[in-house]
Amino acid sequence: MISLSGKVAIVTGAASGQGAAEARLLAAAGAKVVLTDISDKGRAVAAELGGNGVFVDQDVSQEADWGRVIEQALARFGRLDVLVNNAGIYKPGTLPDTDVALWDRHYRVNQLGVFLGMRAALQPMLKSGGGSIINVSSKAGMSKGPNMFAYGSSKWAVRGMSQLAAVDYAPFGIRVNAIYPGMIDTPMLAENNPEQLAMYKNMIPLKRVGRPEEVAQVVLFLASDLSSYMSGAEIGIDGGL
Ligand SMILES: NC(=O)c1ccc[n+]([C@@H]2O[C@H](COP(=O)([O-])OP(=O)(O)OC[C@H]3O[C@@H](n4cnc5c(N)ncnc54)[C@H](O)[C@@H]3O)[C@@H](O)[C@H]2O)c1
Repeated sequence: MISLSGKVAIVTGAASGQGAAEARLLAAAGAKVVLTDISDKGRAVAAELGGNGVFVDQDVSQEADWGRVIEQALARFGRLDVLVNNAGIYKPGTLPDTDVALWDRHYRVNQLGVFLGMRAALQPMLKSGGGSIINVSSKAGMSKGPNMFAYGSSKWAVRGMSQLAAVDYAPFGIRVNAIYPGMIDTPMLAENNPEQLAMYKNMIPLKRVGRPEEVAQVVLFLASDLSSYMSGAEIGIDGGL
């Protein structure tokens, strides 16, 4: 049994899908969890966790919102040990289809949001004596794929930022690892058209899509001291894809 007893975690994008599953599992392992999202549905997920969870509304692309989230985490639970940069958006589009607005939306949420989160976590994690940051990239952030130019580019950026941050944060005892989900059964999956979904499903060696809980299990391991010698790792959670 992995224990996060005594640890405090922030999970972004925790109103839905993988983020909600991660918040539930980290709390079940003993962590106090700050759930954030632009969607108010995160409030209900936090309520399930009783005194172990609190919801803070947040747009991850806004620096001021990060200030409020850290403030709330410290006011409510007194420290910060784990940050899961999970919030993300996916809107399909090839390069010719991608205008500056579509590009910018992906950049702001998926890339700038992760950068701001890692920066905001530094001081509170230093005070806690170290920490673990888990950035959610995607299989699209380490491979070629159609109809995902802005999304894939932002997830490749998360891959690079995670590698660079692992080096920069190592002197502070902060580990930074990235996960690369394949196809996971969440509301985001519905953004793919049926032909594209069928094509991807056929490519998965385990012949099924993943469940959000299966991603959360890997996040739990990376959040815990069982992964104490891991930083800069790239972990696929993709049914063998
Ligand atoms: N589902 C998949 O197949 C898949 C595959 C690879 C990677 N991912 C990544 O996993 C992460 C979680 O996605 P999911 O599959 O659970 O999808 P999801 O759509 O269920 O959840 C994403 C959450 O992020 C929130 N969000 C969006 N913009 C935000 C913002 N600006 N600030 C704060 N919160 C915001 C949404 O409200 C939502 O609750 C994302 O980073 C996504 O890119 C998903």
